[in-house]
Amino acid sequence: MNTLHEKTQKRFTEPCIITIFGATGDLTARKLIPAIYELLKEGLLPSQFVCIGFARRVKTDQEFRQEMRLAIQEFSRSKPLDQELWAHFENHLFYHEAAFPELEGYHRLKKTLQELDIKFGTKGNRIFYLATPPSYFPLICDNLKKSDLIYDEDDASPWSRVIIEKPFGHDFPSASNLQKSLLLSLKEDQIYRIDHWLGKETVQNLLVFRFANSIFESLWNNRYIDHIQVTVAEDLGIGTRGLFWEETGLLRDIVQNHVMQLLSLIAMEPPVTLDAEAIRNEKVKVLQAMRPLTPENIIRAQYASGIIHEQEVLSYREEKSVDPLSSVETYCALKLHIDNWRWADVPFYIRAGKRLPKKTTEVAIIFKNPPSILFQQDAAKNSPNVLVLRIQPDESISLKMHCKVPGLTHALQPVKMDFKYGSYFGMTPPEAYERLIYDAIMGDSTLFASQDEVLLSWKLFSPVLDLWKEQKSDALFTYPAGSWGPKEADDLLERDGKKWRVV
Ligand SMILES: NC(=O)c1ccc[n+]([C@@H]2O[C@H](COP(=O)([O-])OP(=O)(O)OC[C@H]3O[C@@H](n4cnc5c(N)ncnc54)[C@H](OP(=O)(O)O)[C@@H]3O)[C@@H](O)[C@H]2O)c1
Repeated sequence: MNTLHEKTQKRFTEPCIITIFGATGDLTARKLIPAIYELLKEGLLPSQFVCIGFARRVKTDQEFRQEMRLAIQEFSRSKPLDQELWAHFENHLFYHEAAFPELEGYHRLKKTLQELDIKFGTKGNRIFYLATPPSYFPLICDNLKKSDLIYDEDDASPWSRVIIEKPFGHDFPSASNLQKSLLLSLKEDQIYRIDHWLGKETVQNLLVFRFANSIFESLWNNRYIDHIQVTVAEDLGIGTRGLFWEETGLLRDIVQNHVMQLLSLIAMEPPVTLDAEAIRNEKVKVLQAMRPLTPENIIRAQYASGIIHEQEVLSYREEKSVDPLSSVETYCALKLHIDNWRWADVPFYIRAGKRLPKKTTEVAIIFKNPPSILFQQDAAKNSPNVLVLRIQPDESISLKMHCKVPGLTHALQPVKMDFKYGSYFGMTPPEAYERLIYDAIMGDSTLFASQDEVLLSWKLFSPVLDLWKEQKSDALFTYPAGSWGPKEADDLLERDGKKWRVV
């Protein structure tokens, strides 16, 4: 049985080779190679470890190493570059030039991996990290299988695992097809679907916060909680990602995956152990209990021009590579219900958007007001206890409660108890990718999305996306950049006699 204590004690990883498909891309340079470097720095990778970059550009090992060195210098969280560590890392870093569709490149890869196993003692263990456009996932897995790079393992070593990057489909049918095609080459327990939010320290802390503190868990239900608000706000616009955004939109990019993962952790029942399966099963039950969304419970909007941080900014439709008549949403507000005993009649309100006044992600638990028998002042009535779990930036937990103002009256005043990760622990938390790559090597899939979670989440949102496609720009609202969203999002809460929090 996996307890939290056992989990935190396991520090060793097994010998292995990580092959990164799409090694000349942005994700590899900005996140993956710096994360591997940090793991080496923390002493979390064994010396029997190799990393290979797979991409089609012609490049020597030496050129690839030089590019990755610059990437680490620019993007890793610890600076300056540790020369001694780098000298060690670069000797374990190689480049493999091949095109994804060509099987011959995989046969060559197999030969290289076998030679490296002998040289570095990596024992045949394999991670294949697909940092590639998603359309390549089935093809690459098929070729890996055909060239015997995926093992038919039960639980014996050596092992082979495939990490895939989001998006996992763009609606329910495509996600389901993707899953079917992956299962032709892999078993479900060989697939690690990255949702990098799950690797964030504050998201992992949700489990600890809820289940290592008896005082909160006993209040965590419809008897004491009035409603829950999740805010995912970005002050930035879409930048140079117009093409990507036109195909994706906010619901797919943020809500369907990251927010639903967050919600499942907030709403799940205590798992019987901390094993991946036990936790994922509880998360799945939350998604199964989600009431289907109705159009009046979801608002979509797009940013118009406006002022943000005292700068005039363009509307979404004026951004580069965006259709001037685009109906793609950059903001969503929605109300969800989880139809189970714990959460009956507790609404979950979610708002997420681009070009909002500031960057912040938080979950706010708004408690019910006490009976207004003893203290009837407005202060207590209009300002309930609120527990805020701030996910990013400035990770923190705060609790708002009422206190008596010193003096001879019974005047009340809300006060805040605040815990800030940065100032308390005095360290920068590891990047999400460090944790996730480490866990994949450890074979711990707790922080990766399971097929059931992905499909259930699409099941909830696919009908909405279909409706929006039909409606085009009908029922698409606008909001000035730099505001907190359209008035219709406020109406969504006002209908229930509630308000969005001021964050
Ligand atoms: N960038 C991020 O921060 C981020 C965040 C979350 C998720 N993701 C996801 O991660 C994936 C990769 O993103 P990215 O930004 O790194 O993409 P990218 O910069 O476009 O890189 C794509 C990589 O795939 C390689 N490639 C494409 N077609 C190939 C082919 N036929 N044969 C061999 N190599 C080929 C490219 O190699 P060449 O150089 O040879 O063309 C390049 O290395 C995407 O699915 C994206 O949605 C990215």
